[in-house]
Amino acid sequence: MRKNIVAGNWKMNNDLPLSEALISDLKRQTKTSNAEVMIAPTFTNLWHAFEATRHDDIEVIAQNMHFAENGAYTGEVSADMLKSVGINTVILGHSERRAYFNEDDAILAKKVDQALSKDLRVIFCFGEELADRKAANHEAVVESQIKNALFHLDASAFKNIVLAYEPVWAIGTGETASPEQAQDMHKFIRKTLQDKYGNQVADDMTILYGGSVKPANAKEIFSKPDVDGGLIGGAALKAEDFYAIVNAF
Ligand code: 13P
Repeated sequence: MRKNIVAGNWKMNNDLPLSEALISDLKRQTKTSNAEVMIAPTFTNLWHAFEATRHDDIEVIAQNMHFAENGAYTGEVSADMLKSVGINTVILGHSERRAYFNEDDAILAKKVDQALSKDLRVIFCFGEELADRKAANHEAVVESQIKNALFHLDASAFKNIVLAYEPVWAIGTGETASPEQAQDMHKFIRKTLQDKYGNQVADDMTILYGGSVKPANAKEIFSKPDVDGGLIGGAALKAEDFYAIVNAF
């Protein structure tokens, strides 16, 4: 089912005391929209965050996981480990993972398979770089990222997938894709799904936009018919700003 979702990706910010403080601030905010609210603290804060929000309308999600079941992967975290601390959703394929940790489509396909096999919902991220957009290659890049990591799946798998279009040039730069650019790409993504899986999968897919979403621009971006919410970085680190975005629907 298509939903409105606003998810805060805290990235490598907030140690435990700061995470506790931000969660306390978040719990004081009022939600006036129908959006599902998610926060993605770093691994070390997940258990605390889950416990602290157990009775609130906030889902705690993970920023990453490994594709293996368990074993000799020093420094990595498995799907079972996430589930054991109450996590049911994981972000995969963020451009920072792709750029700094060499996560390619083949690795991401394995991560997606592992997450789904453990009944984790996946927020799958992708997006073009500035050079791709300047060369008018952005649709081809996004299409290949989606196809290579997801198109081996059956249609039924897509009920546990949320897509997040995050143009790399708009992440942390203050430069947002215009609402029209976001809408055009989201429409293209839905069409790509429709061509492969048909109307039902395409219509039901929740597609988030990420990249310098702020209280000042969220309403206009979310007003576009194929934009179902946002994946928020910097603005998710202040409770008032984050809820201004949540309430922009
Ligand atoms: P910013 O909102 O800081 O641009 O980050 C977006 C992002 O990468 C969310 O995953």
